[in-house]
Amino acid sequence: MIKREYEQFQFQGEELKKLAEIKPHKLIDLRGAVCPHPLNVIRDTISSLNDKEILQAICDHEPTAKENVPRFSARRGYPFGIIEQNGLWQIFIQKIEKAQPRLQVVNVSKAFKTSDGNFTALNEVNLTIHQGEFVCLLGPSGCGKTTLLNLIAGLDKPTKGEIWSNGNRVTGPGSDRVVVFQEGALFPWLTVMQNVEFGLKILKVDGKIRKALALDYLKLVGLDEKFHNSFIHQLSGGMKQRVAIARALAMEPSVLLMDEPFAALDVYTRETLQEELQNIWSESHKTIVFVTHNVQEAALLGDRVIVFGKNPGRIKSEYEIDIERPRKIDNPEVFLNTKWITNDLREEIEGSEYEDEVRGVAQR
Ligand SMILES: Nc1ncnc2c1ncn2[C@@H]1O[C@H](COP(=O)(O)OP(=O)(O)OP(=O)(O)O)[C@@H](O)[C@H]1O
Ligand SMILES: [Mg+2]
Repeated sequence: MIKREYEQFQFQGEELKKLAEIKPHKLIDLRGAVCPHPLNVIRDTISSLNDKEILQAICDHEPTAKENVPRFSARRGYPFGIIEQNGLWQIFIQKIEKAQPRLQVVNVSKAFKTSDGNFTALNEVNLTIHQGEFVCLLGPSGCGKTTLLNLIAGLDKPTKGEIWSNGNRVTGPGSDRVVVFQEGALFPWLTVMQNVEFGLKILKVDGKIRKALALDYLKLVGLDEKFHNSFIHQLSGGMKQRVAIARALAMEPSVLLMDEPFAALDVYTRETLQEELQNIWSESHKTIVFVTHNVQEAALLGDRVIVFGKNPGRIKSEYEIDIERPRKIDNPEVFLNTKWITNDLREEIEGSEYEDEVRGVAQR
């Protein structure tokens, strides 16, 4: 499925030859580039090009050339071509302005009224997310991650700015964007099956189809059949999160908004679910916006990590995570990315409860 998605944008044969003969508008040499990874340089360079202009990059990092550039380009709808020669790759990417992003956050600010006056939770946030992208929002407590997720979900409205979903202005919740909360927010008076069927029932989906969909998604998240008729209090934390994910997926949204879904789980369950979420994502090709304050989790899961700062909540920096998938938590590149992002976060978190966690990673 992923391959086909790439191919639609990939120049081959004669077309590729022609592309290689055109003088590029920007030429970058990424040989030896490690920190930040080459994809970050490609992203920053291409953002300075005009519509239809071509970037050429020379690269010696195989995952970048073979896996990440195709995904990066296809997500944005940029035609691309790759020529391999003796362990070096020539990469061509054409910038196309009109590619429709899946989500757009445009100059969004959010203020809350408090007893001390207005409190700015988010200030001038701009973010573009493409179809099929896995984006992690990372930052210390109180930097506005949940606030932004709620705005994208349409559960709250920005004080300033706009949110767009597939070219439509977000004015409220929609079944194209479904949220998975930290604690699952399941209904304790319903069984597992009934919880997963709940949203479909509201959408008046026929009983048989509802059941079939619920079974499919419970299977996808790996919840043992013997628990399908259990009540929520009979499940472990990990099982509850599996049900919450199945319930969200059953709505077949194109965007999954996840707010620290694994934060309350033990390390082992968390790692298992992180792995499974990667599999589900690569099979279903949903767009995922995943909130976490765990740097390693963000580096493991994200195509892109958006780092937030606080007071006021704002985007501080962003990283393309240029690592081949599927990724494992002990992948040395995940560790390196974790370290870079951690260093970036350091100034933001000094003095907060987050400091010990960040210091731990940086010293390893
Ligand atoms: N309804 C509200 N009224 C007043 N202040 C609010 C409201 N919701 C959020 N805030 C404030 O906005 C800021 C951002 O909150 P938010 O929950 O988005 O942070 P967060 O990054 O998700 O934090 P955490 O990692 O702890 O979940 C916080 O200072 C919070 O107190
Ligand atoms: Mg939060």
